[in-house]
This record gives sequence, C-alpha cells and structure tokens, in this order.
Amino acid sequence: MPLSFRHLTSTKQLSRADADAVLSRAAAMDKVLAKGKPDDRMHGKILAALFYEPSTRTRLSFETAMLRLGGQVITADGFQFSSLYKGETIEDTITMVSQYADIIAMRHPEQGSADKAASVSLVPFINAGDGPGQHPTQALLDLYTIAKERGKVDGLRVAMVGDLKFGRTVHSLTFLLGLYKDLHFTYVSPKELKIPEKVTSFLKEKDIPFEEMTTFDGAFDADIIYMTRIQKERFADASEYERLKHVYVLHADQLKGKNATVLHPLPRVGEIDPDVDALPNAAYFRQAKNGVPTRMALIEMLLEG
Ligand code: CP
Repeated sequence: MPLSFRHLTSTKQLSRADADAVLSRAAAMDKVLAKGKPDDRMHGKILAALFYEPSTRTRLSFETAMLRLGGQVITADGFQFSSLYKGETIEDTITMVSQYADIIAMRHPEQGSADKAASVSLVPFINAGDGPGQHPTQALLDLYTIAKERGKVDGLRVAMVGDLKFGRTVHSLTFLLGLYKDLHFTYVSPKELKIPEKVTSFLKEKDIPFEEMTTFDGAFDADIIYMTRIQKERFADASEYERLKHVYVLHADQLKGKNATVLHPLPRVGEIDPDVDALPNAAYFRQAKNGVPTRMALIEMLLEG
C-alpha cells in the first residue's frame, strides 16, 4: 500500500495504516539485512543527505540505508560549508538539490525549515530533524523498536523523561503513538522544560490519558521509559543548562524487578548510567540499529510513490 504523503515532515501526517505499513516494510528490510547479501533495488537512485546541524545516527543510518539498497549518496555536511552560510534560502537550496537527487533527507536547526523545503522539493523530501520541531524518522524507528521489544504497541504505559520542551523526538513520538489504542503517557521534566501545549492539546483532543510530574519515581512503573538528553544547544543561558543537565540520571538499581524497556534517541550525555547497558531492559543501542531498516523502508516506499 502506498504512503498517503509524498514528503515526510511531521508524524502528524501519518495515518494508522501508514504507520503499520512502515512497520511491516521495516521488518521486511530487517530480513534483507539478515541475508547479508548486496541488494540493488535502489540501483541508479541518489539520496541527498543535507545535515546543517550535528548528527551521527541519523545521517549515517540514512546513508547506510541507501547504500544497503544499492543506491548512492551525496552529502552536504555542516552549515558553514554550504551556500546557506552565504545567505542562500532553504527554498533555493532544495529547488536545486532536488534536480540532482531522487530523494532528500535534511536536518536543519530552524523549526519549520522542513516545511519550507518540502514546499518546493521536486522529489520526496524527509525531515531528519528541524530544530525543536519534529524528527519523524526517529519516531518511526522508535515505534518499530517498541513493537519489536514489547510485541505490541496498543495498551502500553509510556514515560518520557528529560527535556520535553525542546525534545523533538518526544513530540514526534507522542503524535505517532496517538494512532494506537489505550496508551497512557507520563511526562517527567523540570518545570522549565515541560511538555509543550501543542502536545498536551493533541492528547486532550484525542482523549488520551496523561500526567505531568517533576519527580523521576513516576517513570518506573511504565512499560517504556523514554529517556532524553537535556539539550545544551537550545539554552540561551549556560548556567541554566548546568543546573538542569543531570536532573534525572537512570541507574541499574532503579530498574531492579522492573519490566520496563529503556529507550533513548541518543546521544546520551550522562542521563543513563553505563551500568544500565548490560540489563535486558536497555534497548537503546538496538533502537539505534533499527534506524537502518526503518529508513530503508521509508526510502523505498517514498520512491515507489
Ligand atoms: N537520534 C538522533 O537523531 O541522533 P543523531 O543526532 O546522532 O542523528
């Protein structure tokens, strides 16, 4: 079944059928990867990976996804090395790049940049993170990870912890999980970084139960504990970042006797102690690995139109 959109800028675009179709295609891509043999279904196709904000996982997993499918990749890496630095508009950059490549993935520090890009792109465009806005492919790989780790999505209790104000992955994942049934959300953050109204109003409209708290204890009875980094780059005041950066740190002893699956979009900067890594609960490196089949699925589905 084709996706109901040509460009992916927000998880709000997805229907439940779209989300399920991506999960199913990602599982098929995992089988392709497991064969360990070259696959050439994207032979002759080019992905442009435009990363104007730092990234390790998203950029490399997009590139790996295209290469694993037999396609090729062109990159623009770093704002100061691009013509955006000279004052070129996002629209002009994308108009041009979409005449070079068959599909574009872009990360940019400005919220709304993805919508500007998608409005002019001549080829499928994917938002790989637009400032504090959205990170839809992260949410899809998070969803795929939840489905794989828990065997279901419906009925789960999900706790999201940390920087919920600027954490675009939290916003995107909440909107995506909102497509499933009987979920309950617990948002744990300092009051300065609480979940924005655009997310709580979505939950209220859909009648999805949620609670907000500042204490970490509320997270430990969840099925999913989604940890996030306090994002230094979003703070105007460095001392405010220093005060909040280690407000929630997860240790192995807090998970004793708990069945929770621990996720984190990564990178982590101290909010999950490495003593958690050896626990079966720790799914964050498996989550990062799932970025490849999920992005393989999206590339193929968007290019088959
Ligand atoms: N999760 C994520 O977006 O990681 P990167 O910033 O390394 O791409």
